[in-house]
Amino acid sequence: MDKLAINGGTPVRKDLIGYGRQYIDEADIQAVVDTLKSPALTCGPKITELEKKLCEVTGAKYAVAVSNGTAALHIAAMAAGIGPGDEVIVSPITFAASANCVLYCGGIPVFADINPQTYNIDPASIREKITEKTKAVVAVDFTGQAVELDEIRKICEEYNLILIEDAAHSIGTKYNGKPVGSIADMTTFSFHPVKTVTSGEGGAVTTNDEELYRKLRLYPTHGITRNQNEMQNPDDAGWYYEQVDLGYNYRMTDIQAALLLSQLEKLPAFSARRKEIVKRYDEVFGEMPEIMVQQEIPESDTTRHLYILRLNTELLTCDRREFFDALRAENIGTQVHYIPVYWHSYYEKLGYEKGLCPEAEKLYSEILSIPLFYSMIDADVEDVITAVKKLIAAFRK
Ligand SMILES: Cc1ncc(COP(=O)(O)O)c(C=O)c1O
Repeated sequence: MDKLAINGGTPVRKDLIGYGRQYIDEADIQAVVDTLKSPALTCGPKITELEKKLCEVTGAKYAVAVSNGTAALHIAAMAAGIGPGDEVIVSPITFAASANCVLYCGGIPVFADINPQTYNIDPASIREKITEKTKAVVAVDFTGQAVELDEIRKICEEYNLILIEDAAHSIGTKYNGKPVGSIADMTTFSFHPVKTVTSGEGGAVTTNDEELYRKLRLYPTHGITRNQNEMQNPDDAGWYYEQVDLGYNYRMTDIQAALLLSQLEKLPAFSARRKEIVKRYDEVFGEMPEIMVQQEIPESDTTRHLYILRLNTELLTCDRREFFDALRAENIGTQVHYIPVYWHSYYEKLGYEKGLCPEAEKLYSEILSIPLFYSMIDADVEDVITAVKKLIAAFRK
């Protein structure tokens, strides 16, 4: 860790800048304090208000707030009816939760390869992976860029598959002018602090389908209903509720909901600043043959959660590992998003082997994420650029 920066050991930055962080203002703090002073810390009015706001932001008919993005994926997979033996097609370049949700339901994640320019799941590869057992697709808006929704929806309609869009990275992104959250059968969100808006931990699922919504409502509250129409043994006693299915406690608290409501007020500003930073990075890195920038599809108006540098290692004397260590030595926070899911030892034990998705594996060997967050000032952005330029010059062949 304490490696010296190259060129005499003076790092570009004195202090470390992380690759991502939340932005919390006084309004956020006040919203949390107000809720702490209110009668309801959970199952209260802030959750209802948040779900309404999420419908507004995403254009979806229904929204269910949950405890985190993983829970959102789990209840979406449950609502899709995934069960033992069912196959679900997933991108390998994602956080493990996108595939784990299939395993939670006893299903089988089937990894489709990515498009090497956009880094999102390749619709052609989805087609190749479809079998009689395929039930659903989990398509991840990697870095915030929307997947090719029109094409993927067409495939899903053709084969009667449910489309779950993992929008953990992409709140604020629009596809053909429509916000993500209103297009797939179900869209899942994460509000972890590195994401564009946060509730500390938190997640949500949106849908336009009433039947899916009914299920999504049940699963985060143990499968318990107070709605007599949903009961097997309806009873109008004031205390009566009935567990009609097996669910979990995946509830978000009102404290978290209050924070997220306040954060969502800032989403337009958060999006605008992220877009500005991405534009500046693209301008500079797009001119450098040693670096490949992620290609945007014209349909996606992207609020980027991550900025990825892809190294053209044929033009460099270093590999990704050396570049990563050198960038950290410059006090520029970096991370790799992601290790192909099926490379994890747990998946290896399940029988997945390396070589399944060559484009995803090649991408993994060449990428690293650089700082991108709302509160970066221009000087921070320029520090990142200076450090990257410095390393490229030092490692150029
Ligand atoms: C693509 C993707 N899906 C799902 C998740 C899971 O979200 P959470 O951490 O809120 O459970 C993440 C979180 O990092 C993610 O990046």
